[in-house]
Amino acid sequence: MDQNPNRLLRAMLLVLGGAGLFAMGAVVSCMMPMMGMMGMDDKKDRGMMDQGHMKEMMQQMMGGMLPPGIKSQDLPDPESQGAKALSTYRAQCHHLPSPRMHTAEDWPRVAGRMLMRERMMAQMRGMMMQVKAPTSQEEEELLQYLQSHALQPLASGPVPAPDSLGIALFQQTCAQCHALPDPKQHLASEWRSVVERMRQNMIAMGRREITDREAKEITAYLGLAAR
Ligand code: HEC
Repeated sequence: MDQNPNRLLRAMLLVLGGAGLFAMGAVVSCMMPMMGMMGMDDKKDRGMMDQGHMKEMMQQMMGGMLPPGIKSQDLPDPESQGAKALSTYRAQCHHLPSPRMHTAEDWPRVAGRMLMRERMMAQMRGMMMQVKAPTSQEEEELLQYLQSHALQPLASGPVPAPDSLGIALFQQTCAQCHALPDPKQHLASEWRSVVERMRQNMIAMGRREITDREAKEITAYLGLAAR
């Protein structure tokens, strides 16, 4: 047999082996870099795909479902260890997530899911690209950071205007991507711009958009219930 088919066979086996490993535990979202294995000819530590490329593919693959990112300098308490760990690790596969997207209660689950993917990617590192997994100390700092800057959820109990259209729209619209937020975490005057930003998030993440009228109703309700 000549060399070429042999090499091809080896490459195919490698790809299949890699695919098998992934299939065992992989979550679809971080699988795209497998593509990088197809071109495995240099064994440098750099990996096959740079991070810009990786993020672009992730965004495309998730059909624009990933939350739009924020810049590291816009993170709360940007000089803290937690903010640094977040910038280092969480921006590897997607844009930097805002700690305010989830509640302190939800973060361990959400962050745990991200960490699992990162570990998997780090194991396959070198074959595909460079993904580093945080140490357990960094992991703890990261979680603490996320929780201390988290979204404030609406606690159960009596709410203002419980029968209004505003509250119905608020409940339907604002718990799709995170817990239903407590209106008291902003002043009445701040809610308009937050709701506008959420409309951008809905577009970026492929959710149903709300009409101007619905946005007005929700903003009015939030204003009424604000601190
Ligand atoms: C399409 C998903 C999505 C929907 C629907 C959504 N949000 Fe968000 N929300 C996000 C993301 C992503 C973040 C973190 C990034 C940011 O702040 O824009 C966030 C963060 C927040 C925060 C914390 C940041 C801050 O400025 O206080 C609040 C409060 C919030 N959302 C309120 C709302 C309200 C009110 C609604 C309903 C009008 C809503 N969200 C609907 C995705 C969503």
